[in-house]
This record gives sequence, structure tokens and C-alpha cells, in this order.
Amino acid sequence: MSKSPEKPVELLTGDEAKAELARLAHDIAENDRLYYQEDAPHISDAEYDALRRRNDDIEKRFPELIRHDSPSQRVGAKPAERFEKVRHARPMLSLDNAFTSEDIVDFVARVRRFLGMTADEQLVLVAEPKIDGLSSSLRYEHGRLVLAATRGDGAEGENVTANVRTIADVPKIVRSGMPEFFEVRGEVYMSHADFAELNRRQERASEKIFANPRNSAAGSLRQLDPGITAKRPLRFFAYHWGEVSKLPAATHWEVLQALKSWGFPVNPLTRRCRTVDEALEFYESVQHRRADLGYDIDGVVYKVDRLDLQNRLGFVSRSPRWAIAHKFPAEQAESSVERIAVYVGRTGALTPVAHIKPVTVGGVVVQNVSMHNEDEVARKDVRVGDTVIVQRAGDVIPQLVSVVLERRPKGTHRYKMPDRCPICGSHATREINPKTGEPEAARRCVNTLSCPAQAVERLRHFASRDAFDIEGLGEKTLAEFFEDGLLREPADIFRLEERYGHGAKAIMERDGWGEQSARKLFRAIDSRRKISLDRFILALSIPHVGETTARLLARNFHSLKAFLSSMESGHAVEDLDDIEGIGDVMAAAIKSFFDEQHTREAITHLLESVEVGDFAAPAHANSALAGKTVVFTGTLERMTRNEAKARAEAMGAKVAGSVSKKTDLVVAGPGAGSKLKNAEAFGVKVISEDDWLSLIDT
Ligand code: IVH
Repeated sequence: MSKSPEKPVELLTGDEAKAELARLAHDIAENDRLYYQEDAPHISDAEYDALRRRNDDIEKRFPELIRHDSPSQRVGAKPAERFEKVRHARPMLSLDNAFTSEDIVDFVARVRRFLGMTADEQLVLVAEPKIDGLSSSLRYEHGRLVLAATRGDGAEGENVTANVRTIADVPKIVRSGMPEFFEVRGEVYMSHADFAELNRRQERASEKIFANPRNSAAGSLRQLDPGITAKRPLRFFAYHWGEVSKLPAATHWEVLQALKSWGFPVNPLTRRCRTVDEALEFYESVQHRRADLGYDIDGVVYKVDRLDLQNRLGFVSRSPRWAIAHKFPAEQAESSVERIAVYVGRTGALTPVAHIKPVTVGGVVVQNVSMHNEDEVARKDVRVGDTVIVQRAGDVIPQLVSVVLERRPKGTHRYKMPDRCPICGSHATREINPKTGEPEAARRCVNTLSCPAQAVERLRHFASRDAFDIEGLGEKTLAEFFEDGLLREPADIFRLEERYGHGAKAIMERDGWGEQSARKLFRAIDSRRKISLDRFILALSIPHVGETTARLLARNFHSLKAFLSSMESGHAVEDLDDIEGIGDVMAAAIKSFFDEQHTREAITHLLESVEVGDFAAPAHANSALAGKTVVFTGTLERMTRNEAKARAEAMGAKVAGSVSKKTDLVVAGPGAGSKLKNAEAFGVKVISEDDWLSLIDT
């Protein structure tokens, strides 16, 4: 991040201000990413605050230059809203690492020497899997969870109590047996199955895809909105403790049993070992079972069992003398690249995959290795014919580590990613992310509407509640119809009855269908042949266009005819840019969506069966709510969120997802969390659902 001396804001020209705001938006977003997602800030809080202040100062002088992706327009990242820091009553330490059996034999010999033990005295160890997640410390007072903190730098972590409360594995109240206060320490992690499912969900929502379960556990725990954490399937294993008023036992093993009896999950593989050989056997057996555990571990931990001995052994710098981590080697193997193929995912992302000569890595035959995106292929310069090292490390997913350059055959070529979709032949481009201003990592097929690889996902979105809302056309049915050739593109939905109402391939003849269910589906489809413009636009799956933007477009263009003719004209980008709330990047993305011929054809087909209404002006344009920004939080008891939102918008209000100083009103139901806190911090007016109802009824 550039560090040139700063010109005083009063002396900046408009152009300089514009350039600097762009740079600041990017730098701040990048720091937020490092801080929130990678858990690894690169600058101090003070430096970060200075960036934010500079951004605010420039915006104050040049309000017309405020970018839609400016950090001041987002709430998630204000310094005040970062997590509160917590000083650990006892530091959270790390472990020394060992890699070989000899290291472990040495460790035990060291411990025995330190304690002056004779050869016939027994030294019992407890051996546990080393869970690859993130450690946290949970403080209980009188059996109640009162504080949960991340490890942070070991001395100071972050207060994530509200988030940890959403983890099902973590007892919120311990009924009996727990001393007056007790800090339980352990690992927050995510299982392989939950990780895969979360990434599928993220992909469907065009959200960040996590690289591995550890990152996704870290990203999920460190959410400012505990509502998001609650939707993430986090788990917990207890393996240690911090400050306690009293210990329930004299050995580590027995304390673990007490933790178990209080309701904490303790890893079931944990064993007591009486000799080094037993400990090493444990290591072998765990390594053997590693692939089947269903969660990531990166080694085993041995701990001296007797707590009086632990006390005598004490610590060296930041790790205990009484414990050691025995790490697993990353399993690697050598193979050669036979070809590089490109696959198209459900959301149109092109993923290059190296097909290698089948090779066994850690007990599993690997023949495809994903290279994630073209930047990675370029960085590693993987070519067909290359000898490569592949590994299965913490992740179960095999990775391509490197190319053995000395063994590269003559006459190879750098790999070039296709700029066409290998499935449908449409253009494949790298969009600019409107939030960061950087190209997206993934190249995507732009033919979102009729590319077969994306079709099921797009059809699902098309028929979903907020778009065409066709009851009975869920993902499963759509996938089956697609598979059997009944549906290819959205327009086919409206021809289903005509084509498959009777005769060959009739829907009512299908497994799980009958005359009644088929009729019901056709009726549901028929009832949606007329649709409002905003829903229609949303249904198209235009990149970056969610509900809010769809409505914005509908409100501004008013009719589909006007919208389409602008998109086909030479001034589409200018028209879009003129809309408050749509920036350059989004304008370009929308325009290129309509530039694709396949897309235009799919829309033409659709309009043969669907009538799109003009956007209805809000009925209460002059209401007290007109132009106001409203945020809903907590549980609404008298109407659904969607309904509340629709009502607010019908009265001319803007509904936002997060609270900022620009928010005019927060409607808070029971269980409201961080948004309510933010509202109080910003001095935003907060009302109850009942107040809200009487406000909109007037
Ligand atoms: S004991 C003072 N036991 O490994 C010792 N740590 O390198 C406290 N970890 O930060 C740690 N599984 O995040 C312990 N069974 C286990 C563990 C474990 C994973 C992690 C933990 C710690 C890191 C130390």
C-alpha cells in the first residue's frame, strides 16, 4: 500500500481527490479483508484509522466524488465496530513442533531429565489429535458462559461472545459441577461436510468461497453480525483451560473427563499413553484414520498427564515444557500433467484442472488437481508435459505444489486460459469486482441464462421466491427436468404444459408425479405469466444485480421497453451511470450482460410467453417515510422480513441491510444484536414492530 507524503486535503484538485478516493477505497477494503477474513492485519489500528479519516476528510470537501464502494458507505468496517479487545487472564500459548519419532523420544527424555525421574518411574502422557481450527477461550462464571475470546496474539484476543453463543457444541449454561469460574479452552472448527455445503451455499449466493475449513471457521467466527455466524456450522473441541477458581482433578485426563461431564465435546480419540512407544503408536493410528475423521487435524499433541508435574515443568518463552505437537508431514507425490481442462461451475466460473497421471497420495488416488483460477496457473506456470509435485495437506483436496522445472520437456508452451466458455461458446470474461475495483479471480461465462453448465442454477434463481416465485419448481425438479431435456432456458418453463402436458414425456407420467401435481404446477406457472419489471430484472441473473439494484433499475427505466432499448443503444453505460447507486463497474457489467447474443435470444424467447408490467410508482411517495433509510433487525413477529421490506419500499423508503450514520430508522424486534448496538452508537432512532405498524398504517 503506497506511502507517499500526503498533500493536505485543502490543496487537492478534483482529479487528485478522485484518484485518492479510489486508492483509499481499495486500500481500506484490502485491509478489511486481511483483518476480517484472513485474520491477519498488515497495518496497525492507528494506521487504519488514519486511512479512514483521510477518506472522510476528502469526501467532506468533495461530496460529489463519494464512491458507491467508499468505506464510508459501508458499515461493516468502521474501526469502532471492530471487535472489542480482551486481555486473557492467562496467556494463550502455542506448542513446540516436532516432526519425527526421534523428536518425541527426545521430548520425553528432556521431560524426565528435568523432573529427575528414574528409568523405572512411569511418565504418563495424554495424546490428542491436533485440531486444525482456531483456538478460543470461553469463560464461565457460576456455570454461565460470560465471555468468549479468540486467541489473538496470545496475550490479547477479541471478544466474540455473541458469536460463540451461536455454536451448538458450546454449552451456554453448565447446570452443576463447574467451579465458580472456569475458562475452557479449545478449538473452533468446521467439519469437511459442513465446509463443502457452506461453500456450495456461498457459491450460489455469489459470496466468497473459502479455501479450506480452517479459513471458513475463522471467517465465520469473526463476523460482526452474530446472525451470520449462527448460520455457519461451527463446532468445538475442548482440550485445555485458562484461569480457573478450582481444578476438578489432578491430571489432564481427569480434567478432560470433567469437561465432558459438563457437556463439552472432548475429542473421542484422546488416549492415555504409558510409554513413548504407545504415544508413537497413537500417532500412527491417528495418521492412518486422518482421512476418515471428517475434520482437519494437522498432527497430534502429547501432554504430561499429571498436573503437579506440568507445574514443575512450566514454560519456555511461549510454549509449555510439558507438551509438544507432533505434526503430520504433508503427503506429497510426483506425477506428470497429461492435459489441462477447463470446467464450468454452476455460477459460470471457469476452473482450470490439471489431469495428471494417477498417483497415490496419502492412501487416495489423485488424478485431477484443481488449479482454482488462471492466476494460479500463471503463477505456477503449469504446462502440459510438466512433472509436478502434488500434495494432500491439511485439506483433503489435493493441491498442485510446484513444477519440477529441471524435468520440463522441450517445446512446451505457457498455458493460456480460453476466453470462450468450453460448454456453450459464449464469451468468458473476468469481471471487475465493484467492491475492490480489482478483476475477479474467476473468469466466467457471460451467458448466464442459457449456458447448460449454469442453467440449473439460473433456472433455480429464475423461479425463486423473490424472482418469478413459481411454486413447485424447486432445485430438485428443475435439475431433473433439465437432465431429461424438458427445460433448457427460462422460456421453456412457460412452454412446459404445451409440450409435456400430455403425450410422450408427459410430466404426470414421471416418477413422483401424477395428474394433480402436474396440473398444480401448470397453474402455478400460468399465474406468473404477468410479472413486475423489478422481479423480471432480478430473475435474469445479471451479474451484481440483486434485489435492490433490480428495483433501482426498474424505478429508473420504468418499462422493460425503455430498459432494453437503452441496453441496446450506444449510451447504455451512460444511462446506467446516471442512476444514483450504480457505479462504473456495475454499469459495465450490466451492459456486457446484454451484449451477449445468447442472452438477448433467451430474453426474446421469454417475452413470447411473459408480459412484463411497467414499474408502479410507490403509492405513498409523499409519506413520512419517503426517501428515508430503514433497517430491520431481530425477529419480526407480525410480518415476514420480505413483507416489511416491501411495505417500507412501497412508502418510498430505502431498506438497508446494515446500520450507518445515514440510517434514519431502525425497527428492532426481539433478538436484535449488533445492528441495534450500532443504532445506539450512531444515535439512530429505534422503534418496535408495533410502533412501525402504526407508522405505516397512518
Ligand atoms: S494445547 C498451552 N491441544 O494448536 C497449550 N492445542 O500450536 C495449549 N491445538 O493454539 C494448547 N489441537 O489452537 C492443544 N489438542 C490440542 C490442540 C491444540 C489444536 C492448537 C491450538 C493452539 C495450537 C498450538
